[in-house]
Amino acid sequence: MSAPAAQSYERYERVFAEVEAPFAFVDLEAMWANAESMLARSAGKSVRVASKSIRCRALLGAILEREGFQGLMTYTLPETLWLAEQGFEDLLLAYPTADVGALEELALRSAAGPEGAPIVMVDCVEHLEMIESVLGTGAPPLRACIDVDASWWWLGGRVKIGPKRSPIHTPEQAVALAREIEKRPQIELDALMAYEGQISGVGDLPPGQRLRGAAIRFMQRRSAAEVAERRAAIVSALSDFVELEIVNGGGTGSLELTAAEEAVTEVTAGSGFYAPVLFDHYSRFSLTPAAGFALPVTRKPSEWVATALGGGYLASGPGNAGRLPAPWLPEGLRFDDEEGAGEVQTPLLGAVAADLTIGDRVYFRHAKAGELCEHFDSLHLVEGDRIVDEVPTYRGEGRNFL
Ligand SMILES: Cc1ncc(COP(=O)(O)O)c(C=O)c1O
Repeated sequence: MSAPAAQSYERYERVFAEVEAPFAFVDLEAMWANAESMLARSAGKSVRVASKSIRCRALLGAILEREGFQGLMTYTLPETLWLAEQGFEDLLLAYPTADVGALEELALRSAAGPEGAPIVMVDCVEHLEMIESVLGTGAPPLRACIDVDASWWWLGGRVKIGPKRSPIHTPEQAVALAREIEKRPQIELDALMAYEGQISGVGDLPPGQRLRGAAIRFMQRRSAAEVAERRAAIVSALSDFVELEIVNGGGTGSLELTAAEEAVTEVTAGSGFYAPVLFDHYSRFSLTPAAGFALPVTRKPSEWVATALGGGYLASGPGNAGRLPAPWLPEGLRFDDEEGAGEVQTPLLGAVAADLTIGDRVYFRHAKAGELCEHFDSLHLVEGDRIVDEVPTYRGEGRNFL
């Protein structure tokens, strides 16, 4: 595959000459280069695509046509049901649901085609009871996946690093929950998932923070070794009495580590397709920015400041500066400390701001991946110097799941 075309201000200005800002876009050559690099890091293990990090049905479909990518990791049950209706198969809902109405709909869908029905996530008996409460006796079982906590416990558990999700941490706890599932004919245990967010989602080269980077690398090394051992022990304990179709782990930032574990049957990736700012700072890989948005300059409060319309598209997570979008092109722009990226306007400073005039455009990248699509109805798809398509985001299809 040829290298992605250079990502310069001039090139995007040529490409988008006829498009009115604000708009969002995906640079397809960059996205496919990222896809290839993620497949190489996954070393032959199949890659499930995290829909929350794409949020565009057309792109999800295009990615799944590529060999190496198999199935979707979805984020809400209504989304999962919608995707299933649209013909997407092999759906693993990564987060537990308390949506009784959607569970009832899933039960109907599962009764019609139990084999390929979407799999729901469970991590406690309450989740099982909720599923039981919507299924009549004699209904074919719903397929379930146990979410195992993959966080790293240090100093005898006094320090816990990683996402606070499932209470299931040890092989004994996983076996106990699997035995609870075994008692319930309405639930079939088909899968296990353990997501090590403290490795996958944390860049180990934070800019300007060498000591913090060293601490992150220490934590990630120790955590990767620990989770590999524990995941293998859990899979081995469960395989005495269940046949797991899927053992899922990992994310964009940990593909090579998770895929190397024998117990893992597949890895997940989502953010790496768009390669947002938070994925710029990893030692294990580098990706090409593939998604961005453009805002028009609508004001010049002074000769040295160019103020763009809108722009306050902050990413979820801890409320720090790393969640701001990043001015991208032309290079050399920065936010004003007082205003940051604002609801209705974003002042931009830096030497190049003086060259920008009203009607010019500025290109930005989002800190995270799929959340960009919650601000735009469509994505312009770019190849070389051409817009080859314009496709709706989830939002553009009137779908807002979270
Ligand atoms: C369960 C699970 N798996 C995998 C991922 C990785 O997704 P991405 O590749 O977008 O970082 C996430 C992200 O939060 C997740 O929650």
